[in-house]
Amino acid sequence: MEYKFSTKVTSHSRISEVDFNNIPFGKVFADHIFTADFDGTHWKDFSIRPLEKLPLHPATMAWHYGQAIFEGMKASISDEGVPLLFRAKDHAKRFNTSARRMCMPEIPEDLYVESIKQLVSLDRKWIPLEEDSALYLRPVMMATDEFVGVRSSDTFKFMVMTLPSGPYYNKPIALLVEEHFVRAAEGGVGEAKAAGNYGGSLYPTKLAKEKGYDQVMWMDAKEFKYVQEVGTMNIFFVLDNVVLTPNLSGTILRGLTRDTIITLLKEKGYTVEERPVSMEEIATAASNGKLNEVFGAGTAAVIANVQRIGYKGKDILLDMDKTTLSKELKSNINGIRKGRIKDTHDWITPIYQEELMLS
Ligand SMILES: Cc1ncc(COP(=O)(O)O)c(C=O)c1O
Repeated sequence: MEYKFSTKVTSHSRISEVDFNNIPFGKVFADHIFTADFDGTHWKDFSIRPLEKLPLHPATMAWHYGQAIFEGMKASISDEGVPLLFRAKDHAKRFNTSARRMCMPEIPEDLYVESIKQLVSLDRKWIPLEEDSALYLRPVMMATDEFVGVRSSDTFKFMVMTLPSGPYYNKPIALLVEEHFVRAAEGGVGEAKAAGNYGGSLYPTKLAKEKGYDQVMWMDAKEFKYVQEVGTMNIFFVLDNVVLTPNLSGTILRGLTRDTIITLLKEKGYTVEERPVSMEEIATAASNGKLNEVFGAGTAAVIANVQRIGYKGKDILLDMDKTTLSKELKSNINGIRKGRIKDTHDWITPIYQEELMLS
């Protein structure tokens, strides 16, 4: 379908204020934003304009009842200067899965992708060229009825903002196995990228940080026995030549980096087991010298090596000299994202200016 976008270009680009060699994650925003509104029946008012603050009523429902979802994606630029989106269509699908679970309207996949293509094309100069850097894209949808009382909102706002970003972690990370708080239980909203999932994770993460760890490793909500995921990443364990990762049980996010890694590993001939992974199994493998690598996988960090896992009052230590598989995978993913390695899976959406639905 064709959508009519109204576009207003800034007369004061802020790009000259940015040091692209030193970009703090999450703080620097590119010049423009995309917004669309759902009026109870239709998506309308597709607008790209200079990023600005929103005037919102204090009773805006998203703030009270948490009807808010988001995505995190990345755009890179090829050596030929073509902006490339990574797994854009899959992010659109996941956004709609989150929307359904949170009783929000779906957004047509082509509108989702087209809005991002137009926005990224306009702010293409903001895509960092540096290694391990990208333009981070943040689509978000929020309930906008001005109403006090628990029900689903009728109206919603969809927005996309973009942020140039450098490496998310600049060193290997330490995880603390969480044996009291839970992130998600079966039947809950753990599989949705719902804002409240992150709000609930902050206090346990703060406690873990006070103990010297970077992130919490979430366990299943029934027995605290099986690993779920980590902060904003899925988790992988490399045992000799078998790679383990928790299966999609409805409690963890269906990570697209996770899916990318599983696909690449299978192509390389590795055995990947997606199944319940108990912390006891991991601790035993570590003490038998069989745990070669542990790494988190997510859009922001791509791959974050784990150096230390706090479990039952002791630390499992990983040898950073053995992190060969994760390094290879990271370089494969970055290569595909930059267009240097052939995309054989239809993961890349190139943005050719002449193909955009210009209004
Ligand atoms: C809770 C959670 N798990 C896993 C991931 C990794 O997902 P993806 O690889 O799609 O970014 C994320 C990041 O989006 C996340 O927030």
